[in-house]
Amino acid sequence: MSTVHFTINGLQCETEKGTSVLQAALAHGIEIPNLCKDQRMEAFGACMLCRVEIDGARGNPLACATPVTEGMVIRSETDAVNESRRVCLELLLSEHTGDCVAPCTMTCPAHIDVHHYIEHIGNGEYEKALQLIKQQNPLPSVCGRVCTKPCEDECRRNLVDERVGINNLKRFASDYDRLHGPYIPEISSASGKKIAVIGAGPSGLSCAYYSAIFGHKVTVFEKHANPGGMLRYGIPSYRLPREILDFEVGIIEKMGVEFRYGVEFGKDIDYKKLKAMGYDAIFLGVGSQKGWDLGCEGEDRCSRIYTGVDFLERVEKYNDIDFTGLTVMVVGAGNTAIDAARTSVRLGAEHVQIIYRRGRAEMPAHPEEIHAAEQEGVEMVTLTNPKAVAMDGETIAVTLIDMALGEPDASGRCRPVPIEGSDHLCMADIVIAAIGQTQDLSFINDEFQLKTNRGTIVADSNTTQTNLPDVFAGGDAVTGPATAIQAIAAGAKGARSIDRFFNNQPLPKAEYDHVMGKKIQDVSPIYYEGEVKKEKQRPAELEPSVRIKGFSEVELTFTEEQAKAEALRCLKCGCGDALDCQLRKYSTKYDANQFAFEGEKHAKPLDTSHPVFVRDPKKCILCGTCVRVCRDIAGVNMIGFLYRGSGTETVPYLPGMMTGEKSCENCRLCVEACPTGALLFK
Ligand SMILES: Cc1cc2nc3c(=O)[nH]c(=O)nc-3n(C[C@H](O)[C@H](O)[C@H](O)COP(=O)(O)OP(=O)(O)OC[C@H]3O[C@@H](n4cnc5c(N)ncnc54)[C@H](O)[C@@H]3O)c2cc1C
Ligand code: SF4
Ligand code: SF4
Ligand code: SF4
Ligand code: FES
Repeated sequence: MSTVHFTINGLQCETEKGTSVLQAALAHGIEIPNLCKDQRMEAFGACMLCRVEIDGARGNPLACATPVTEGMVIRSETDAVNESRRVCLELLLSEHTGDCVAPCTMTCPAHIDVHHYIEHIGNGEYEKALQLIKQQNPLPSVCGRVCTKPCEDECRRNLVDERVGINNLKRFASDYDRLHGPYIPEISSASGKKIAVIGAGPSGLSCAYYSAIFGHKVTVFEKHANPGGMLRYGIPSYRLPREILDFEVGIIEKMGVEFRYGVEFGKDIDYKKLKAMGYDAIFLGVGSQKGWDLGCEGEDRCSRIYTGVDFLERVEKYNDIDFTGLTVMVVGAGNTAIDAARTSVRLGAEHVQIIYRRGRAEMPAHPEEIHAAEQEGVEMVTLTNPKAVAMDGETIAVTLIDMALGEPDASGRCRPVPIEGSDHLCMADIVIAAIGQTQDLSFINDEFQLKTNRGTIVADSNTTQTNLPDVFAGGDAVTGPATAIQAIAAGAKGARSIDRFFNNQPLPKAEYDHVMGKKIQDVSPIYYEGEVKKEKQRPAELEPSVRIKGFSEVELTFTEEQAKAEALRCLKCGCGDALDCQLRKYSTKYDANQFAFEGEKHAKPLDTSHPVFVRDPKKCILCGTCVRVCRDIAGVNMIGFLYRGSGTETVPYLPGMMTGEKSCENCRLCVEACPTGALLFK
């Protein structure tokens, strides 16, 4: 065979005459994306990903179908071909249906590997479950009690019966560790780098935990006398017993992290001092500490009005409040409001009401919390808002005005509109304004010019890095008031970014993750029709009449039997090909967006009739490789295309023939050749 010379991406190469551009490039270590070309067979030209630029050629020829000729000049990664690859991928993805990673993991801000830790619990491997959880979340016992559980909203078992109790399972594994462990992660050898973490809330604790694992010397500076941030000074102990928080912080201490309490950044220490003390990087996890005032007329002339966070902090710090026989009005309907209301009940209040300007459906607190508050006797008064307050002796006269729901506002929720003339008086002994919090960033000054936006610190969402290269920030101080797991995720991200910052390494690109639908409501239940319904396990809890008498924990941990039974309800979602899938690999590389085009989705259920493999037609991209491998390599010719257009399927020629008993030889070549998760071994 004669040899031809060519240039690819500026590299002078040679190959045998007749070789395709794709094969020649691959032979020289240059990857041209391809989904439908199997080196053993002729080009098929289905995926169109292998387009390249060739001097003198019209358009962008397919590398798999173009032979190299003498003197050919090829470019395989120009902006134009990369853009065309992205579009081709997006067209394929628009008709593709699958979840690369389990949707619970995708939805969890910390991306905990839920599927596999649940599997460990089902197998009785509780330590393994805990260790997996702790790769992303250093406070699982805390989260197992207070997490807002966004993962459960997207749990695919919602399409069968009821969501898996993911958070209760996490709590079980971490409580098991507390009683039988504890697990302390391995620490890398000392890096010689020092990190100052400001704030011992969940974001700061998480950053400290992972930074310690990297071998960095960490000091946490906290203005309060104890750690936890809003986990301690906000969330009441009947939801989060303090010994649970102390246990998980204790592990971080055992890992060598130093805590300095009663030290306020901006007063006792500042950026300059920390640099002088040899700190190489700073993580700010200072949270949203200041509660909003009521913002209505007469407020400055009234006593006995608290903000929600001040009230809860005082209960935690001094335990000196007695509401026996009093009427308490809590304004707002978020987490803080519900906690303030339920705490007031426990402090002896005779009547506690929540006043909220929108409707019940719009209440931001978790429905379980609202339900628990009602069980404890809290009254929900919706579509009303305070307009003015005035002291009437020892009592506060609150003028309320009724509200109607108008057009949706920027938050997507309907705007509450006052109804003129609906003013009415309501008397209360105590008013608690729990309408929101803001950040105290008074440490920003000319010498520490941190960039902010609407009162929050500006930090890169991928790296948590601020405008000052050695200062990172995360949690509520960056997002505004959010959730514990978001703060934990930000702290972990901060630790990883700081480590890369020390080592001058760029961040790895986030992997492409296909989802069956933007939201679970977009996913067809047809894919889950064969699933057996299994009764959901519910943890025991204290009776309302008992729990209102004190601050004992309300909800209990699963028993071992319950945990195992609940774990077996998990559908083990996620694609079996996620680590090898070529479609996912190229979608990552070319930044494809599965929602760029509205493709036709076909409700094709899983085919499990073959003894060796499972066929998932909704993941097939019709590359035809299985058809041709079966025909041209195996010489069996069992698989063919059925139907035409976007409804085409690759199936056995006759339904029922792929049973392994007739002519399929179980050679497995089709499964090995499939570039996606459409054919997988059982
Ligand atoms: C009442 C209430 C109930 C909640 N309930 C839930 C719930 O059920 N589930 C949930 O997921 N989330 C809940 N949240 C939200 C959650 O607690 C927060 O999102 C989370 O704690 C934010 O973590 P963070 O680390 O960003 O800040 P924080 O927890 O606020 O911690 C910040 C820490 O920094 C310290 N600090 C601040 N400034 C300085 C300074 N200058 N120098 C030194 N130290 C400083 C503070 O003292 C504090 O310890 C609730 C919040 C509140 C207020
Ligand atoms: S086939 Fe590939 S892209 Fe599709 S769900 Fe599986 S791993 Fe993701
Ligand atoms: S069924 Fe299991 S893997 Fe699937 S979303 Fe729910 S918890 Fe996650
Ligand atoms: S099932 Fe066949 S046609 Fe479909 S993606 Fe796999 S190899 Fe290609
Ligand atoms: S069209 Fe060339 S590899 Fe698919």
